[in-house]
Amino acid sequence: MDENETGHVRAKEAHADALTILEKFDNGVALLSLNRPEALNALSPALREELAECFRELAGDDSVRCVVLTGNEKAFAAGADIKAMADARPRDMIRGGNERFWRPVQDFPKPLIAAVNGYALGGGCELAMHADIIIAGEGAQFGQPEIRVGIMPGAGGTQRLTRAVGKFKAMMLLLTGQPVAAADAERMGLVSLVVADDAVVDTAMEMAARIARMPPLAARKIKEAVLNGADLPLEQGMLIERQAFQLLFDTRDQEEGMKAFIEKRKPVFRGE
Ligand code: CAA
Repeated sequence: MDENETGHVRAKEAHADALTILEKFDNGVALLSLNRPEALNALSPALREELAECFRELAGDDSVRCVVLTGNEKAFAAGADIKAMADARPRDMIRGGNERFWRPVQDFPKPLIAAVNGYALGGGCELAMHADIIIAGEGAQFGQPEIRVGIMPGAGGTQRLTRAVGKFKAMMLLLTGQPVAAADAERMGLVSLVVADDAVVDTAMEMAARIARMPPLAARKIKEAVLNGADLPLEQGMLIERQAFQLLFDTRDQEEGMKAFIEKRKPVFRGE
């Protein structure tokens, strides 16, 4: 397969309220698009529910090896839905149990690329930070503006952001609520790659296609080692890495990868 080949759609699903659109391609890539343009993809309870459902489905579908999550040209997502929570009391927030919607994204075992155009604010920035790779358009803006509406981030904004960019940049974003442009976000370490706005999804899909051709069990173990090791002392992180590394020698893809190298041909990885 050509390095740049992005595959053909083999299935397209819109869920009940069509707040998400899920397209699966024959090269192992899935494109999941948030579809609430009238509210800049604000994460309403119904949208979160669909999103969680999509991630559960994608996790269980062996034909999917890498996922691209995106919004539209104007917004990746402008945050939690302020209108849906303006009158909420703590008991409503507890009953709402937002963490159950985030859990399938947080636990998603396959490589996840966020393709971000426009606003990635509040819960939208937090959603992007759940991804493994963030590709942003030049016009994208990242921010945690919750303080401006009297609250604070509730889905990792104080934790993942600080781990990504360090205390002083994180505090600036969190305490002023001021968003930063994609180029600044990249300099801070919040973004993997900045490209022209109209190249965001194509770039993400090409990268996803490349990742989908890699051995999926190795990809899964790399993701696990990075995420689980990040908050551990180095010795424990190294132990996680070493055990995952050793375990991969029990896969057919390891045999195939090394054999193909020696035979000077392209490997075909089957996820076995
Ligand atoms: N919740 C609900 N609706 C939202 C929204 C949000 N977070 N963001 C935008 N919208 C709606 C607007 O109300 C508007 O709807 P109407 O046409 O019905 O009035 C529509 O989307 C378009 O938005 P604007 O007219 O405001 O568009 P703009 O281009 O003038 O401004 C913006 C864009 C600067 C992103 C502005 O919409 C904005 O500041 N949005 C709120 C951003 C925010 O504060 N996000 C954090 C939410 S709290 C959170 O996320 C908690 C958490 O951590 C989990």
